[in-house]
Amino acid sequence: MNDVPEQQNGKSLPSRRFPAAFLLFAAPAVALLLSLWLGGTLDWELALGGILAVSITLLGILVPHFRHLDGLYRYVAALGRGSAMPVPPAGTSPILAPELDAALVEMAGERQARRQELVGALASREVIMANLPDPILLLGSGKKVVQANPAAVALFGRAIEGRDITAVLRNPDVLAAIDSNYHADDTEPRSSAEISFSLPGEVERQFSARIVGLDASTSDGVSVIVSLHDLTTVYRTRQLQADFVANASHELRTPLANLLGFIETLMGPAKDDQEARERFLVIMHEQADRMSQLIDDLLSLSRIEMREHSPPSDVADLHGILQDVAEPLEIKAKARHIRIVFDLGRATEVIGDASDLSLVFGNLLDNALKYGRAGSEVTVTTRHLSPEEDPAARRIGGPAVAITVEDSGEGIAKEHLPRLTERFYRVDTARSRDQGGTGLGLAIVKHVLNRHRGYLEIESQVGVGSRFSVYLPAPPQEQVEAPESLRSRA
Ligand SMILES: Nc1ncnc2c1ncn2[C@@H]1O[C@H](COP(=O)(O)OP(=O)(O)OP(=O)(O)O)[C@@H](O)[C@H]1O
Ligand SMILES: [Mg+2]
Repeated sequence: MNDVPEQQNGKSLPSRRFPAAFLLFAAPAVALLLSLWLGGTLDWELALGGILAVSITLLGILVPHFRHLDGLYRYVAALGRGSAMPVPPAGTSPILAPELDAALVEMAGERQARRQELVGALASREVIMANLPDPILLLGSGKKVVQANPAAVALFGRAIEGRDITAVLRNPDVLAAIDSNYHADDTEPRSSAEISFSLPGEVERQFSARIVGLDASTSDGVSVIVSLHDLTTVYRTRQLQADFVANASHELRTPLANLLGFIETLMGPAKDDQEARERFLVIMHEQADRMSQLIDDLLSLSRIEMREHSPPSDVADLHGILQDVAEPLEIKAKARHIRIVFDLGRATEVIGDASDLSLVFGNLLDNALKYGRAGSEVTVTTRHLSPEEDPAARRIGGPAVAITVEDSGEGIAKEHLPRLTERFYRVDTARSRDQGGTGLGLAIVKHVLNRHRGYLEIESQVGVGSRFSVYLPAPPQEQVEAPESLRSRA
């Protein structure tokens, strides 16, 4: 109900009708008095007096009545506009029963209670939708997304409300199941379906989609509900379990066979050979260490791969991580007379998981110390990159940090570069093994960076050295200098 056209010059409809009503009620008496005066039955003074008396009586009745009516009218109009409970009209009318006011106020109260119930129900729906961890899409006519909960918006990464579902979810099986609900015969109950599908992206994700067609559309036009359930972790766990068993059994076979060989020799031919026993025990200790390192690395890799689809959101202190990583490697550096030089710029923070990033820089520094020339330098540099100026930051999609670990060593031939991050890939398998390498270090680096939505770049020249550059997303720029302890480290 809308009273705007009914109002003119601030007067409501009853007020504007007052003159007409007055004339209508006064007309019979005035006509009678006038005809009596014209017929000579009444003299003019009496006729005029009569007209005045009728008018005053009528005004006495009509004015409070219309005032009351006007109050009621405004009250009903305000209710119709949906205003909060208006104040009930004041005053009484000699014509309108006071029960009418009471009935109206009661009706308004009920109406208000209903409205609050409805608002409450809608708010509960919003709250439930907002807190559901699974992405939910409510579809209306024309397969348009009527509502998407925050989990769905986060998954699809953009405003999807009002868009056609075909522009949001492109999987043909899911779309066919949604379609079948729209083309279903109105007399039959709607169907529901459950479909597994994968969502391509930087890291592919697996989902199951449940599509439920409602028998009748809701008041806001929702007729199909699509809920998605993330199965990535389940799929990955299965895959990683299989990989772990295959890799572990394959890679453990050699050191285990060696161990068995030594044990058999020690139990047999070298039973009483003290010198051989000591020598063999040292080798057996090394082999056992290698096996233990291999299991640790495989477990780290599985743990990282398991979480690869959920990027970290914490801010990690880069200088602190580099400091912690470099400290235990000092012994190794000293043994090879290598100096670790830090050249840390303004970039101190990245968006990341500190313990995962420790694995990255630990592996890169370890490699540089392992494969760098004895007596040379290993340089660690950090640089802040802004998307306006640097293509690497644009690739990351915002401010970024580049961390480079550079060594002067034997370098890596070009043909090996693309394969270095494959698990167990080693340029010189025997040499890497001799140095206690499992060939999983750079695979771990790659998966950690995938999880962080960052990436690794490798540049190398045989006989000159290698540079490993890590690119990571950075929080909005801050300006903190590197701590003194990390500026240069011998
Ligand atoms: N800085 C480097 N200079 C020369 N070669 C390197 C360098 N870093 C890595 N490589 C080569 O890449 C291979 C793979 O490196 P990765 O770190 O994955 O394995 P690893 O060092 O052999 O073993 P792990 O790190 O698992 O103990 C190495 O075996 C080595 O051949
Ligand atoms: Mg390594």
